[in-house]
Amino acid sequence: KPAQDLAGRRVLISAGGTREPLDPVRFLGNRSSGKQGVALAEAARDRGASVTLVAANLEVAEPTGVSLTRVGSALELNQAMREAAGEADVIIMAAAVADYRPHSVREGKIKKQDVGDTLSLELVKNPDILAGLAQHRTPGQVIVGFAAETEADADRLLALGRDKIERKGCDFLVVNRVGWTQGFATDGNTILMLDHLGVIVQEASGSKISVANCILDVIA
Ligand code: C5P
Repeated sequence: KPAQDLAGRRVLISAGGTREPLDPVRFLGNRSSGKQGVALAEAARDRGASVTLVAANLEVAEPTGVSLTRVGSALELNQAMREAAGEADVIIMAAAVADYRPHSVREGKIKKQDVGDTLSLELVKNPDILAGLAQHRTPGQVIVGFAAETEADADRLLALGRDKIERKGCDFLVVNRVGWTQGFATDGNTILMLDHLGVIVQEASGSKISVANCILDVIA
């Protein structure tokens, strides 16, 4: 049994990819599987935490022994996180949130007969959920964000991470590289973790559950 170093702590985690509806049968999505966020929820549970998971689309089984809220779009995720945030000692935003959503959701199915050969979509920016949570943080709350980047150069990846943690205002940022064959939907992960000053406080590579435990070591 792992050390119960999160016993009595309330940990709120978001996971999975948001789906932004276009019409009743279609959405804009991303390739996040939710694996890393679910692994974090399971690892925190096993270390004694009381875990709430807000799940956007998952390609893995829901974890047991956690309180689960299912959401679809970024706006739904934002609302669920805001409702649960006040109670949390730790918030981890592992969800892949759409930066933009369709400006209007059609009542009926978009039909090609009505559209023609090209279809333009107007998108509007979603709220930055992580930045909002950091802005409204309660005293002592620890807030962790993720940065999934396609940047291959290690120095530039680090620079992106440092820039991002500054903009988001969170306490820690988990940076990982993603691509067609990396990060999203894979079984392993390679991460580094920055503190609010941009200092590297953790580096880990391995299964998503072992990476989750390395992240929780810092948080604990
Ligand atoms: O800006 P970027 O999407 O790279 O930031 C990633 C981090 O911000 C992740 O922790 C993600 O969950 C969060 N995020 C958010 N709201 C958004 C976009 C991203 O909370 N609209």
